[in-house]
Amino acid sequence: MLELDLDFSIDRLGECRVPSPMTGVRFVGDDERVLYASTLKELKTARDADGPAVMEAAGPRAHLYFEPSSLACGIVTCGGLSPGMNDVIRAVVLSLTHHYGVKKIFGFRFGYEGLVQRYGHAPRELTSDNVSRIHENGGSVLGSSRGHQQPAEMVQTLRSYRIGVLFAIGGDGTLRGAQKIGEEAARQGLRVSVVGIPKTIDNDVSFVQKTFGFETAVSEGRRAIDAAFVEATAARNGIGLVKLMGRDSGFIAAYAVLAGGHADFCLIPEVSFSLHGFLKALERRIERSGHAVVVAAEGAGQNLIAPTGERDVSGNIKHADVGGFLRKAIAEHFERAGIAVNLKYIDPGYTIRSVPATAHDSAFCVLLGQSAVHAGMSGRTNMVVSFWNHQLAHVPIPLAVSERKKIDAQAILWDSVVASTRQPRDMR
Ligand code: F6P
Repeated sequence: MLELDLDFSIDRLGECRVPSPMTGVRFVGDDERVLYASTLKELKTARDADGPAVMEAAGPRAHLYFEPSSLACGIVTCGGLSPGMNDVIRAVVLSLTHHYGVKKIFGFRFGYEGLVQRYGHAPRELTSDNVSRIHENGGSVLGSSRGHQQPAEMVQTLRSYRIGVLFAIGGDGTLRGAQKIGEEAARQGLRVSVVGIPKTIDNDVSFVQKTFGFETAVSEGRRAIDAAFVEATAARNGIGLVKLMGRDSGFIAAYAVLAGGHADFCLIPEVSFSLHGFLKALERRIERSGHAVVVAAEGAGQNLIAPTGERDVSGNIKHADVGGFLRKAIAEHFERAGIAVNLKYIDPGYTIRSVPATAHDSAFCVLLGQSAVHAGMSGRTNMVVSFWNHQLAHVPIPLAVSERKKIDAQAILWDSVVASTRQPRDMR
């Protein structure tokens, strides 16, 4: 099951000689670790040469690499929106300002474009005053964009603004870009720490148990499913079809289905099905209950639909529209079967992404933002902050982007979804 060569060691720019200005906190020792394993079985298998596989614990260090009073920091948000981006920006700015007394913080605009001078996006100076209420709104006050930029051009910008720590809020493409920035800076002899805060509403980053915004997405997804249920039960042979985000991983769909308990089918990218198998099961459900709710993650059933052959600028495969496909297939199937149904289709994708974070997600963003700041101030680099085994920890970027985290169809989450929907386990 587990890779035995897990290397969680974190790169560092150099020795930490500057005493931290923080007072009244418990400093985290450099030898404090978070266990990778969470079960005895894993503990026996996930080991390295020195013992069980472990991650560095996140948190404030007694000594820093950077002298805060002369440090400038940058923040950039990349990729698709996710609830909580503003909360993370705010947490980073407040922690840099209040914990450390950093005076120069630049917010680079529209993702990595903001680090390339020829785009002409001037950075915004961020202060505790101008970020104080940004978490009340969704989106990112810095703007975001997808796509790669040349590391040398981005490092040039970091050089001009004398940036010592760059905080990159984004998904796997962003984190790969962050790694390249760090490598290019090192090649040029520039001491820049690059710290990622993993962002993907899909919750599909490896070695990260939960990304910020995911919990909000589940709450909003549940609302859409509830609406589909109301519609479906208010009509004779009503069918509510909901498409939720989830390009390669169906976590939002699975958790939203469990939360509401109203869905009769949950279709996710990790579990393949045949159109015939699904439609027959849906027909049986309609015959038995007189209504049905179907939840499909956007990456579900892609083997049944003609591929678009397109990629977005981040390099992600652009999936064909499973919602439109199922809507048509369901309508045609019941028409052929001579059964009148009332089908309502709901696609709340961008509505979900753009809302402010829920309270718990917001609090989580604060913990992540502060952990990222502590890591950056201590000169750690090429890493992300992660929530793992109910602890905040450091994970090297190469591990975080090694593969996309997916639902294990043989494990408890999927078993619970199947039990909740009572859909056939095998619809192939
Ligand atoms: O960030 C992940 C995600 O929300 C996916 O679920 C979705 O496929 C994609 O982004 C859509 O992003 P956009 O339309 O902004 O490119």
